[in-house]
Amino acid sequence: MKLFVCCLLVIAANAVTAAPAGQKLAKLREVLNDFKKINGSIEHNGLMLNTPLMDDDEKCCAGSVLKCFSSKLSELKTTKAEHMKKFRRNLEKSMIEKSVNACSEEDTKKAICQACEDYSMKDSRVFMQALESLLQKAYDRLKN
Ligand SMILES: *[C@@H]1O[C@H](CO)[C@@H](O)[C@H](O)[C@H]1NC(C)=O
Repeated sequence: MKLFVCCLLVIAANAVTAAPAGQKLAKLREVLNDFKKINGSIEHNGLMLNTPLMDDDEKCCAGSVLKCFSSKLSELKTTKAEHMKKFRRNLEKSMIEKSVNACSEEDTKKAICQACEDYSMKDSRVFMQALESLLQKAYDRLKN
């Protein structure tokens, strides 16, 4: 019992003091690992998907961009359906959105973002590369 209380205290203390950046990094690492697992299991057969590129015009659109990626992922054929489900769920978590978003809250509110269907269609391989690069960039930015 004493040990249990002690553990709880340690966990609580960690929750308070742990840098949010550390939590974001851990979550992003998990998402990137899941990406790799899924990436290798996708059947690319010339499927074209709306692909957000999140260029400078759209750098404050992380939320809608991630939702777009997540919804389009459902069209891909994969043998790892369970991983895919978890991966898509994570992409829509606010912690991931906050990690990918490099803008202030104010700029994010003002941002004008395209609808998912307005992004140009790219081959599913390019789609996956764009998603990976988005997540990797967020990871590198947080790490530095
Ligand atoms: C994803 O898979 C493609 C092959 O379909 C490969 O070229 C690429 O390097 C993979 N990306 C990652 C991050 O594993």
